[in-house]
Amino acid sequence: MIVTPALLNRFNLDSNPFCNIYDRWKSKSLLPAILVMNVLITGASGLLGRAVGAEFKKHSWKVLGLAYSRIKDDLVKVDLNDFEAVSKIIYQFKPHVIIHCAAERSVDKVTEDYENSKKLNVDVSKHLAKLAGDIKAIFVFISTDYVFSGESPPYKEDDQPSPLNLYGDTKLEAEKRIAEINPDSMILRIPVLYGDEEYIGESAISSLIKLLLKKVPTKVSNYEIRYPSNTVDIASIIFQLVMKKLQDHSLKGIFHWCGMESFTKYEMIKVIAEVHGISYDHLSPDNNPSPGSKRPKNSQLSCKRLQDIGLGMHTSFTDGVKCFGKFFN
Ligand SMILES: NC(=O)c1ccc[n+]([C@@H]2O[C@H](COP(=O)([O-])OP(=O)(O)OC[C@H]3O[C@@H](n4cnc5c(N)ncnc54)[C@H](OP(=O)(O)O)[C@@H]3O)[C@@H](O)[C@H]2O)c1
Repeated sequence: MIVTPALLNRFNLDSNPFCNIYDRWKSKSLLPAILVMNVLITGASGLLGRAVGAEFKKHSWKVLGLAYSRIKDDLVKVDLNDFEAVSKIIYQFKPHVIIHCAAERSVDKVTEDYENSKKLNVDVSKHLAKLAGDIKAIFVFISTDYVFSGESPPYKEDDQPSPLNLYGDTKLEAEKRIAEINPDSMILRIPVLYGDEEYIGESAISSLIKLLLKKVPTKVSNYEIRYPSNTVDIASIIFQLVMKKLQDHSLKGIFHWCGMESFTKYEMIKVIAEVHGISYDHLSPDNNPSPGSKRPKNSQLSCKRLQDIGLGMHTSFTDGVKCFGKFFN
C-alpha cells in the first residue's frame, strides 16, 4: 500500500511495532513508502471470517485472526466474552482495522439461549467498537438483513428496521450501541451466505445438500425469497470498503450488500442439483411459510449506497455453488 502523509496522520503509527518504516518516512529517506497494515478479524474460523482473512492476506496485510473452538493454523484462541483478554490482545497488536465477524448467527440458537447470545452479539460488539475508537482503528461490524421484517423490500440503509426474531433483535441492538459508542464505525448488512465450507450444513445453503443426498421424498420451502451471497464477494466488499475509508475518513454508518439473484430454497436446490448432475425428483416445492422462528419473507437489500461509491462484486449462484463439488464425491 502506498502511504501518504494524510494516511499516516490517520493512525497513531509512532507506537506501532509494524510501522518502523514510518520513521524512515519521517526522516524523508523514503517517500512514498510501503507500509504494512494490520487487521484484526474476530470469528476468523467462521464461514465469513475465513474468507475475510484470505482477502486481506491476498493484499499483503498482516492478519491476526481470533477464534474460539476451531483453532488451526495461525488463529489465536480467545473467548470474546473475556474483555480483559481481548483488550490485551488488541493493545498488543494495535490493529489499524478491526473486522468483527464473530456472532451467534443461528436464529434458533439465539432463541434457545437468548442471554448468552445477547452477550456475544451485543455486549462483545460494543466492547470491540469502544476499543477500536480508543486506538483509532477502523471498525467494521457485520450485520444482517434479518433486522428487517421482509414486508417491503428492497430495503435502503435508512429504512426502518423491524426484526421478526431475537437474532435480528440482537444484531439491531448491536448496531445502535456501536453507532453511539463509536460513530465512525461502518456497519455492513448482508444476507444469507455460502462459500467454501468445511462441512455440509455450515451454511443454510449447503444444508440443502442433505435433502438432495437423502433421496427421501421431501417438501422444500418455496416461500421465503433470499439473495444468497458468496463469502468471497462479501470479503472483497469489506476490503474495498476499508480501502475507501482509508481514503475518505468521513465514510461511516450503515451499508447494504446482497447477491443479485433471488431464489427460494427449492429454486436453490434445483440450481445445486443441475450444476452437480444430481436428481432432485424426490423433492417438491412447499409454498407455505417455513415453520419455527419467524423469518422475513423477502428482505432484499438495496446495494445502491455502495454501488454509488463504486464498490461491488457478485459471483453468479451457478458459479458459486461449484465449490460444493467436494460434497458430492
Ligand atoms: N452466515 C450467514 O448466512 C449470515 C447472514 C447474514 C449475516 N451474517 C453475519 O455475518 C457474521 C459472520 O457469520 P458467519 O456465518 O461467518 O458465522 P459462523 O460461521 O457461525 O462463525 C462464528 C464465529 O464466531 C466465533 N465465536 C463464537 N463465539 C465466540 C466466542 N465466545 N469467542 C470468540 N469467538 C467466538 C466462532 O469461533 P469458533 O468457531 O472457533 O468457536 C466463529 O469463528 C456474523 O456477524 C453474522 O451475524 C451471517
